[in-house]
Amino acid sequence: MINKCLFPAAGYGTRFLPVTKATPKEMLPILTKPLIQYGVEEALSAGITTMAIVTGRGKRAIEDHFDISYELEHQIKGTSKEHYLDEIRSLIDKCTFSYTRQQEMNGLGHAILTGETLIGDEPFAVILADDLCYSNDDAVLVQMVKIYEKYQCCVVAIEEIDIEQSDKYGIIDGKLVDDSRDIYRVSHMVEKPSPTEAPTNMAIIGRYILTPEIFDVLRVTKAGRGGEIQITDALNSLAKEGKVIAYQFKGKRFDCGSVDGYMKATNYFYTMYKEEK
Ligand code: G1P
Repeated sequence: MINKCLFPAAGYGTRFLPVTKATPKEMLPILTKPLIQYGVEEALSAGITTMAIVTGRGKRAIEDHFDISYELEHQIKGTSKEHYLDEIRSLIDKCTFSYTRQQEMNGLGHAILTGETLIGDEPFAVILADDLCYSNDDAVLVQMVKIYEKYQCCVVAIEEIDIEQSDKYGIIDGKLVDDSRDIYRVSHMVEKPSPTEAPTNMAIIGRYILTPEIFDVLRVTKAGRGGEIQITDALNSLAKEGKVIAYQFKGKRFDCGSVDGYMKATNYFYTMYKEEK
């Protein structure tokens, strides 16, 4: 039912300068795979095969990554190193990738609206590749697709945070639905409030399922926090009509947009890699 996943990938990654001067932040590796590849694998595990990527200037490495490198294929063919390409080859076989460019950096809401041309009139997933999620069981997006199938409205993934961190996230308020302990009907959401203004400590992480109605809302959403068009503000309009569910996902999430989170992810994945060996 969800066929497409949008990857907003136009941001500068200033917290990782100078490495992000000429390398997209989505291409930073955790072990041997770039962050965005983990995102694409997560989407594929949820049955999604159409990847829609919103890029910007200086992001061509992403397109090259999800394409065949004939020279490399030729060099490596028949050698003991060929298996290194297995995973990426299989992704390229199974998925299609389309791109559009965001010409000005005007916020996540604006990036998502820029992706409308690739999505069209259907519900879709959004992955922010710098939030790297890991679960032993179903991937976060797999969990969210199940929630979407039940509620047929927008779904955001949430996590409880230390309230001191509230100004880094969209924060939701809402009521638990049914007899569930992890699904909320959102009544209100606010982008990056100070700890004293935050209604709760439930923060939105970089996984969304959105209905196409969001595009019409984004078109009329005024600039908010930081003078940018925020997806949180657009979703807040839909939340007032009871059309947004927040889901406390099962699994781990690493904020790879920060050096700290990036190192934690690297260590976590390296430990798993060593154990598998
Ligand atoms: C964006 C959203 C924010 C959300 C966060 C999740 O912020 O605007 O609501 O909580 O992603 O990672 P950013 O991290 O791009 O500043």
